[in-house]
Order: sequence, then structure tokens, then C-alpha cells
Amino acid sequence: MITRSPILNVMTRAADKAARGLKRDFGEVEQLQVSQKGPADFVSNADLKAEKVLREELSKARPAFGFLLEEGGTVKGTDPEHRWIIDPLDGTTNFLHGLPHFAISIGLEKAGEIIAGVVYDPIKDEMFCAEKGGGAFLNDRRIRVSARKNLHESLIGTGIPFRGRGDGDRFNRQLSAMMAETAGVRRWGAAALDLAYVAAGRFDGFWEEGLSPWDIAAGLLLVKEAGGYVSDLRGGQGMLDSGTILASNNLLHAPLQALLTNAA
Ligand code: IPD
Ligand code: CA
Ligand code: CA
Repeated sequence: MITRSPILNVMTRAADKAARGLKRDFGEVEQLQVSQKGPADFVSNADLKAEKVLREELSKARPAFGFLLEEGGTVKGTDPEHRWIIDPLDGTTNFLHGLPHFAISIGLEKAGEIIAGVVYDPIKDEMFCAEKGGGAFLNDRRIRVSARKNLHESLIGTGIPFRGRGDGDRFNRQLSAMMAETAGVRRWGAAALDLAYVAAGRFDGFWEEGLSPWDIAAGLLLVKEAGGYVSDLRGGQGMLDSGTILASNNLLHAPLQALLTNAA
């Protein structure tokens, strides 16, 4: 049994509590799938309920901290340094379609830097967590990024632009380049988990554009604490602002970055 730090305890407990509701609601989605109305309203409600639980739990533990919430926006705290960056349900489209791959993502920012992160997949009961300087964990086990150094053996995660979002032509060029050089590309539909999978060495790399801070805040720390490297596609560190991210082990980062910039 690992002993988690007080702050990670607060975060994992909040994630656990919100996950109970999400799991119940996911069970309902399967029933609603076949109804005339479909599960869309139900799912946005599940999302809001999870966010409410997270906000309540985290406020109870750290009343002064502010929030950046996907649904609720910015909530100023009395502590100007700390804020929670939260996606209560990452992988909404999967959830809506009854695909069991989604997560809760909680990042803690201090003076502009992410210092703790939790990504919890309630269906697989996988709790990924990391604190700055303390390493990354999956449940009780320490995790590390993969050690692969050849692109042609690497499995890469991504996100595909959809319904008017993102630059489909650029993505197609990036994908073609990636397809030609790697062992495969996956689009699983939950960016927070994609990053957690890079941290756990399941994916050798991940890139996506057009993301929001709550999709990546927790995940980027997971990757760093698992010994990986995270940047935007040009090697810059403005990922939370630009929403563009490339994460991988240290060996593959430069070749992946070159491949993607050449395809831009
Ligand atoms: C989405 C997922 C998806 C990514 C989208 C995000 P949501 O978040 O992370 O993988 O491709 O860009 O918006 O809407 O399910 O919270
Ligand atoms: Ca999201
Ligand atoms: Ca979401």
C-alpha cells in the first residue's frame, strides 16, 4: 500500500466520490440508448452532477483555492496562487455511446504551474496520480514512460478533429506521416487518459491540437513525473494556453516533433 500525500489524498477521494455517480449514470446510458430521446440530456446532467461533487469535496478540503471548471468556468478563490483545473467527464462522446472509456481529471495549479494531478477511470478502476517531484502512480504501482526508441515500434495516441473543430487537412497530413513511420495510431477519445497511458508506457507518444486546459492539466504532470517530456508541437511550454500537446518518452520526442512539424 503506498502512502499518498495529503493533497493527493484529497484529490483521489474527491475523484472516487464523483466516480460513483458517473458509474451509476453510465449504467443508465445503456438503457437510454434505445429510447427515442436518446441519452444526450441525461449525459450532460451526469457531467454537471460529477462537477458539483468534485467542487464540493475539494472546497471542503481547501476552502481558499479557486477553480477552472469545464462546465462552471472560473471561480475565484481567496488564495490567489492555487486553483483546481477540472474536467468532470473526459470522454463524453464515449460515455454517451456506451463506450467504457472515460475519466475524471483534476489538476492543481500553483502560481501557473501544475503541481498535482489525478486522472481516474472509474470503469477500469484505474487511479493515475502524480505530484511534482514525487513520481507518477497507477493505483499502488509506480509508473514510467516506455523505453522504446524507434518510431517504427511505437504506438501513438491522438485526437481527430470533429464537427467543425480543428484543421482536418493538417491532421490528415500529420496522420499520414505518423502512419508511415510508426507501429500504429489510436484514437480513444479521452485526452486525459491518452496522457495517462503515455505516463504508464502503454502509448509511446500522444499528440493533439485544440484541447482545453482541463483536458491536459493533470495528464501533463503524469507524463513528466513518469519520466517523459511534454511540449507543444514546436517544443514550447505554452500547452495550457495553446491546447496543443505532444507527449512521449525523451527518446521519441524529437523525432515525433520533427515528423509533426514537417507535416504542418
Ligand atoms: C474531449 C476528449 C477528446 C478530445 C476532445 C475533447 P470531452 O473532451 O478529451 O479525446 O479529442 O478534443 O474535447 O468533451 O469528452 O470532455
Ligand atoms: Ca475533456
Ligand atoms: Ca468534459
